Amino acid sequence: MRPIKIAENIYWVGAVDWNNRDFHGYSIYEGTSYNAFLILDENVTLIDTVKEPFADEMLHKISQIVDPKKIDIMVSNHTEMDHSGGLPRVMHRIGEDKPLYCSKMGHKNLSLHFPQAWNYQPVENLQEVSIGKRTLTFMETRMLHWPDSMFTYSKEDGILFSSDAFGQHYAGPERFDDEIGEAIMPHAKKYFANILMLYAPLILKLADKVTEMGLRLDMVCPDHGVIWRKDPSRIIESYVEWSRMEPRRKAVIVYDTMWHSTQLMAETIADALIAEGVPAKPMHLRACHRSDVMTEVLDAGAVIVGSPTLNNGIFPTVGDFLTYMKGLKPKNKIGAAFGSYGWSGEAVKIVAGELEAMKFAMKGTGVRSHYVPAEEDLAACRELAREIAGALPM
Ligand code: FEO
Repeated sequence: MRPIKIAENIYWVGAVDWNNRDFHGYSIYEGTSYNAFLILDENVTLIDTVKEPFADEMLHKISQIVDPKKIDIMVSNHTEMDHSGGLPRVMHRIGEDKPLYCSKMGHKNLSLHFPQAWNYQPVENLQEVSIGKRTLTFMETRMLHWPDSMFTYSKEDGILFSSDAFGQHYAGPERFDDEIGEAIMPHAKKYFANILMLYAPLILKLADKVTEMGLRLDMVCPDHGVIWRKDPSRIIESYVEWSRMEPRRKAVIVYDTMWHSTQLMAETIADALIAEGVPAKPMHLRACHRSDVMTEVLDAGAVIVGSPTLNNGIFPTVGDFLTYMKGLKPKNKIGAAFGSYGWSGEAVKIVAGELEAMKFAMKGTGVRSHYVPAEEDLAACRELAREIAGALPM
């Protein structure tokens, strides 16, 4: 793939990773991209690099525009290795003494990843650096999503280089939102649900700050996926909406099953919710990846979790999912637990305890079925569904 001109004297020089399907436990069915941006100005500037195996590909793209040795300034918005892995190759090519701008935490964290004594230039929040006709402003975005994260903004271009924020794990021929249209939004939503959901309160504060600053945003360039140029406000408004996590009339029934008893309960709850006018989706944890379940959890008003009892505990996939969901800190959810058991029957209580610990508003006392659901167990599932439907917003 060639470098792509994204604005006057600014180029995308990243790499598309067509084959990656797992991003540290998050399923990416359509690959991803690692975006890096080259600015031709009096001081030629490179913003971010790519994952290490793609470093030569990136340097080849840069070489089609300018000799990499002519790069004067390196900017690292984020230390995670999908963006910094290419730094050693890049710094070697451009010159190890070239200034490397990053946040103060970036300096600390990059030094913990790479032994080289690079010419670090740690910046203050909102520090400005002139690169010629342009002034770059560095904006600390600590914990969005690492302590070192920052944005780089070019006011002359109205372009925000937003690091991971507003990204999507998507590999495709398109480089811009207007080339793919609405089809990119499910990727952006999944990315938010699985990477940024836990930082929702910080995102809302940042959105307020950006509005207060009155930044002109003609283009938002994230480090993954397509660039937002047609309507950058679309993704920013979506982030605000997702961060609010306002409950919706929607339910997700997450479960695993051994001999279909818990499955029958899950599907009975789903049917009863649908009958009450609640869009409800049963998601079997060995058919649906945890990251796809979390995408549905993002805007669901109710999360109902079922597990059979296995060896006096919960089913392993349910434990995996609960651990994952707990870390992502979903808010404003109604919760409920259900499941079948043979003899000891602890799972429902354990699941309910986990949901309570996540501050879910619990409904019912947990529906349990002995071996195979009897009609009265299924009636209890329907009753639970009706109670949840009554508590969800219309
Ligand atoms: Fe795309 Fe936090 O790395």
